[in-house]
Amino acid sequence: MAGGNVVHSLAGAGTNIVMMTPAPQSAQLVTIAPVPWIARLIGKAMALGYRLTGKSRYDNFRIERVQDMHFIVLPSVFNPKVPRTGDFLASLLDSTRVRADTAVLDMGTGSGVCAVAAARLARRVVAVDINAQAVRCAGINALLNEVQAKIDVRQGDLFTAVPGERFDLILFNPPFLRGAPSDDRDRAWRASDVAERFAAGLGTHLKPGGCAWVLLSSFGDGDHFVREFYKHRLQVAVLAERRFVNERLTILKVSPHAH
Ligand SMILES: C[S@@+](CC[C@H](N)C(=O)[O-])C[C@H]1O[C@@H](n2cnc3c(N)ncnc32)[C@H](O)[C@@H]1O
Repeated sequence: MAGGNVVHSLAGAGTNIVMMTPAPQSAQLVTIAPVPWIARLIGKAMALGYRLTGKSRYDNFRIERVQDMHFIVLPSVFNPKVPRTGDFLASLLDSTRVRADTAVLDMGTGSGVCAVAAARLARRVVAVDINAQAVRCAGINALLNEVQAKIDVRQGDLFTAVPGERFDLILFNPPFLRGAPSDDRDRAWRASDVAERFAAGLGTHLKPGGCAWVLLSSFGDGDHFVREFYKHRLQVAVLAERRFVNERLTILKVSPHAH
């Protein structure tokens, strides 16, 4: 599990720079700063470009490579490579942070990218998604990557799929935008009250010493998640950050306060 340092991964022109800086003090409140207006404008132009040229990566059957793993992405399932978020969260899963006796919950598993990466290290992984196609997709990818014995894929709405269960590590790359989703594909992007319900249920699904890693994007209302975590008296620290021309991705470490 991550210690007192923060890993910053800065992506630029195909190069990743990883630097260690001291973690924020607990008294220092974390905020998700928006990117400058010019970056937002570039982001909107790039999003339009994705919609025109990258549509097949969202709506067709695809095979994507993440690290040394291959993933089939079914139509309506979130692509872990196109918006870069699933890829980034999975890249943090290594043997220095995930021990062999760890029990992991991958909330909103999508293609199963983080569940599969975690299962290569951890004792067991429960992968949950509300979208039936995502559940099917994650199951296929567990088989494809030969970790099916360690992954239990379940369909359900947030913690209702894991009643009474506790985990050492909970991963969540949530829908960033607020509002009612229009269909299953849109559930990856938009939710009405996922931040509120995830923050409310988190404490009772973590083992003592456990934590969640939650990925937030400057595209969405990241501060809304942060406010919900503070409302439930959870501790928030920045675990990793990756900057692109148009977007900043932040992975937060969220944990109950030590008594
Ligand atoms: C941004 S995608 C992330 C997918 C994958 N974890 C990744 O990193 O590539 C968010 C996922 O959360 C799922 N989701 C949305 N609302 C949910 C809910 N209430 N309960 C469970 N899963 C949910 C979506 O179906 C989608 O697969």
